[in-house]
Amino acid sequence: MIKSLSDNIFQFFKYEQTLNNNNLKRNDMKKTLLSICILTLAFSACTNNKKTVELFPERNFDTIVDSKKVAIYTIKNANGMAAQFTNYGARLVDLWVPDKNGKLKDVVWGFENIKGYLNANDLYAGPIVGRFGNRIGKGQFTVDGKSYQLTLNNNGNHLHGGTNGFYKKVWDARSFKNEKGEDALELSYLSPAGEEGYPGNLKIKVIYAITANNELTINYEATTDASTIINPTSHVYFNLHGTTAQSSNSHILTIFADKYTPTDSLLIPTGEIVTVENTPLDFRKPTAVGERIKTDFMALKYGKGYDHNFVLNKKAGEMSLAAEVYEPATGIVMKVSTDQPALQFYSGNFMDGKDTGKRGDVHNYRTGIALEAQNYPDAPNHANFPTAVLKPGETYKQSSIYAFEVKK
Ligand code: GAL
Repeated sequence: MIKSLSDNIFQFFKYEQTLNNNNLKRNDMKKTLLSICILTLAFSACTNNKKTVELFPERNFDTIVDSKKVAIYTIKNANGMAAQFTNYGARLVDLWVPDKNGKLKDVVWGFENIKGYLNANDLYAGPIVGRFGNRIGKGQFTVDGKSYQLTLNNNGNHLHGGTNGFYKKVWDARSFKNEKGEDALELSYLSPAGEEGYPGNLKIKVIYAITANNELTINYEATTDASTIINPTSHVYFNLHGTTAQSSNSHILTIFADKYTPTDSLLIPTGEIVTVENTPLDFRKPTAVGERIKTDFMALKYGKGYDHNFVLNKKAGEMSLAAEVYEPATGIVMKVSTDQPALQFYSGNFMDGKDTGKRGDVHNYRTGIALEAQNYPDAPNHANFPTAVLKPGETYKQSSIYAFEVKK
């Protein structure tokens, strides 16, 4: 643009000279030149504008972590829905979906480059967490009569797979077209026996794909060579405004769950499974996230905001709709389906504005929500919770879908 402006000025002086030389009508020529300038400016503005709406600006993810190559990968569909991932932590970096005006919005937290992730204060922006997502009390569990001690990284408990969980690992990546012709990305990782205290060499594979119906599908598979426990989940912070400049408290949320699992003050389940009725956790009818967060929360024993495991209304293993989120300002609707028994809804209570992400978005208090399809937290320590045990010869499988629509 600067170049074209200076070219214009240069041209102007050249023409001035010609004018003097040829005695042409000065005013007419000036008018013509002015029009050329305006046209050039308008043209440059358009070209630049194209640049600003370009989905993926240059993002530097090329680095080596743990002697493995880190990179960025893109998948998309014909409607323009697109996503970027990095194999560092099997993370979703961008997710572009249409809003009610047909404009693409990036609805997830993330950083511009790999440095952002390596230096982040909040470690859980977009990765696959595990081996066990959420908490295990005191990091202890017993499988096949043998007790194990996991690393303790959260107030004396184990959280999201520990200090060096899946979210910090460099996964092997392979882009391909799946059997439906969709763009897909396979990420695989071999977690060696003893990693973070877990038994068994665990092979895990996660496949992300984008369907023609604007769905981000996440399929997991894992096997082990010794009895172990497993509960991986996708830990994405969504903001359907497409920016953290606006709070996610305005999102209208429905969760298809009659029950939840109460916790102690350190967010470890007590083992009870109780009704959501007459609590601010009753999201069976669409309700704004922020509506009851301040007032009614005192009624819950340990409430700083939503950070609860909702027990989904379904038969074991059934794929069903777990939650719906709608943001009136953008018209974006996200529907979460899963075959998992539960969903953790986290309203961003620990978000503190210390991180600045893509496009200068500050990751402030309650500027994103997480809806994590999962087994119940601390499941290995409660006989009444679904089992999280994986044995040799078995294959762990999980399917979750984040589908996008608009409401006008
Ligand atoms: C959530 C968890 C919260 C918090 C958050 C990460 O999955 O439920 O308690 O740990 O991750 O800050």
